[in-house]
Amino acid sequence: MSAFVINGGRRISGSLRVQGSKNSVLPILAATFLVCGKSIIHNCPTLSDTNSTIRILKNLGCSVIREGSTVIIDSSTAQGYEIPDDLMREMRSSVVFLGAIIGRMKKAVISSPGGCEIGLRPIDLHLYSMRQLGVNVNEDYGKLVCDVPKKLEGNRITFSFPSVGATENAILASVTANGTTVIVNAAREPEIIDLCNFLNKCGAKISGAGESVITVEGVETLKPCEHSVICDRIVTATYLIAGAVTGGDVSLENTNPVHLQAVLPLLEEAGCNVSVRCKTIRLKAPLRLNRIDKIITQPYPGFPTDAQAPFTALACVAKGTGVIVENIFESRFKHIPELIRMGASIKTEGRVAVVEGVERLYGAEVVSPDLRGGAALVLAGLTAMGTTVVNNTKFIDRGYEDLENNLCMLNADIKRRG
Ligand code: UD1
Repeated sequence: MSAFVINGGRRISGSLRVQGSKNSVLPILAATFLVCGKSIIHNCPTLSDTNSTIRILKNLGCSVIREGSTVIIDSSTAQGYEIPDDLMREMRSSVVFLGAIIGRMKKAVISSPGGCEIGLRPIDLHLYSMRQLGVNVNEDYGKLVCDVPKKLEGNRITFSFPSVGATENAILASVTANGTTVIVNAAREPEIIDLCNFLNKCGAKISGAGESVITVEGVETLKPCEHSVICDRIVTATYLIAGAVTGGDVSLENTNPVHLQAVLPLLEEAGCNVSVRCKTIRLKAPLRLNRIDKIITQPYPGFPTDAQAPFTALACVAKGTGVIVENIFESRFKHIPELIRMGASIKTEGRVAVVEGVERLYGAEVVSPDLRGGAALVLAGLTAMGTTVVNNTKFIDRGYEDLENNLCMLNADIKRRG
């Protein structure tokens, strides 16, 4: 099992260009299946999740070439409509292919994504939106078999919760449907806007992305285009916290500070000096962080659930007690027992964690429980006294490009083992 070995206590300082967004690149790559032709996508991060997405595209019959951070997808002759179980299991968010496959092939077979490390992750909202558009969905021994008996017909889709993935699937399936689709209580995340910008460049007619109501006027076909994926706001937050917990001074380039409006004020509340110039965010940290009173995860534009675990690591070493409420996923505190092994003082009750800051954490052997929980343990290791071994890097590699080399460039002492 691969691990990160971190000798903590060094100030994280210097500049770094932040990678493209994982949560944008996945639906955009899936969307290229809908486009008959050669799409060119820039700023694609090198991640195991991106590789899994490329494998799915190839399995569907697309030709895919990667040149650095650019991925060129030719879907002209692709005829696949089934995602095999092993590919589906590699990455549960591959359910976002459903809308794209249905949109193009009018049928799809995928395995049920099932439970995962941060909670059950049901797909009822995805399936509801497909049914609203005229898709027949049959659940058959762990498989979802979908077809469109007549035509995909635009309709009203009213979500009971603004699910990111379900909104993406609804957009992907409706973009070439007959007539108009109105998605009510849509997710408003920047990654939804990025997906819609890509599709609109391809000739789609989508309005309202970034708002709660999205209107999609179906078009006959989409033409290929060139697109650059937005910067990863969660990775940006993670590197900012690396600076914060080590009394450091980091400048992150190629970011979009607007996407971090719920995050940057909390870093200021912790006593950091945060300055923004165009696409660069600079954070200068005090020697000891102040407590953050309350962190409550919410759909965008609220505080992101993906930044909850990294902020928990920060709260562990702040002066005073803070409360963290996880509202999005029911099981997203698995990093907490590992942080406690490092000397953190945290009590949890259901979706609430009360973190009493300690003067310092101590290096220990810990196991990464999931992607962002793993990032939190790396952050804890950077600030801890002594050596921390974070086992199970495979989760972290799903979302952080070249994490150890980037942190080394910022003065950390971190190595990959195994
Ligand atoms: C996406 C992000 C993930 C982020 C999450 C919330 C990607 C690849 N992943 O995941 O990093 O943490 O948004 O911002 O973009 N739900 C249902 N039924 C459904 C769908 C969702 O009950 O059909 C529930 C989920 O169980 C969860 C909540 O809705 O409790 C949010 O999920 P959702 O917004 O769909 O997250 P994902 O798209 O899976």
